[in-house]
Amino acid sequence: MSAYAKPDIKKLSPALGAEILGKDIKQLLATVPLSLLREQFNDYLKAHQVLFFRNQDLAPDDLVKFAELYGPVGEYPFAKGLSQNPKVIPIIKEPHQTSNFGGIWHTDSTYLAKPSMGSVLYAVEVPETGGDTMWANAYMAYDYLSDGLKSALENLRVVCSANKNKAKLRADHLKDGSMKGENTAEMDIKQATHPIIRTHPLTGRKALYLSKAHVTHFEGWTEAESAPLLDHLYAHQIKEEFTCRFQWTAGTLAIWDNRCTVHYPLNDYHGHRREMWRVTVDGDVPV
Ligand code: SIN
Repeated sequence: MSAYAKPDIKKLSPALGAEILGKDIKQLLATVPLSLLREQFNDYLKAHQVLFFRNQDLAPDDLVKFAELYGPVGEYPFAKGLSQNPKVIPIIKEPHQTSNFGGIWHTDSTYLAKPSMGSVLYAVEVPETGGDTMWANAYMAYDYLSDGLKSALENLRVVCSANKNKAKLRADHLKDGSMKGENTAEMDIKQATHPIIRTHPLTGRKALYLSKAHVTHFEGWTEAESAPLLDHLYAHQIKEEFTCRFQWTAGTLAIWDNRCTVHYPLNDYHGHRREMWRVTVDGDVPV
């Protein structure tokens, strides 16, 4: 199918997420001008916030080329990449492991001054059942706040740290021996503050920009003072009606927009192996 043809789109839920059908990503990357692909694929992402392309057969270099449609590819600070392409990070849960990588609702790398704009994830091996991932629409989370809470949050900033939940988030799931930076001073400086209400640079829409995995407190507030309001917002941002859930099959490619979503990989497949390859796209300073 040509990149010009209107694709068939299967929405995942009323809130967000879409499977784009009938696209052979490897072939499109090889035959269609990248400027055209860039425009079209960015339009899909703006409309649906997380996209899925099943039945792909991609090498690490293809993933990087696909991610570059969305922006410069970044480095994940805590892991070494694949030997075939170090920009691609393997994320693996082995049958004997009981925690999973990233297993708390989050949006990626908010401990950086410029958190990643998006992530590309490719399913290499998945359990027959289980191991789904959920996303929630952060525009809806903002839209459905009361006017009073919207205005109370308008000028608040949150402090985000890579140290919060680090054991649960990363330990053991990056290929054996591939961790870097843990237990060193490097970890301590991975902290940033961001506005809790973020305006998306492309759509102009406001989103509740809140990563439970990383946020420690409101800037200028204590952790104890921050906790009740943060807990309320964590529960609010993942209301069922804001979410979608995706069941992976090997060979599925996904991309999501971290600026207007949060995500959560389910950890319901102990005893089975799951291997994903991830590439992150650089982002800008949230405003
Ligand atoms: C992630 O949080 O980046 C991983 C998502 C997944 O494994 O489904």
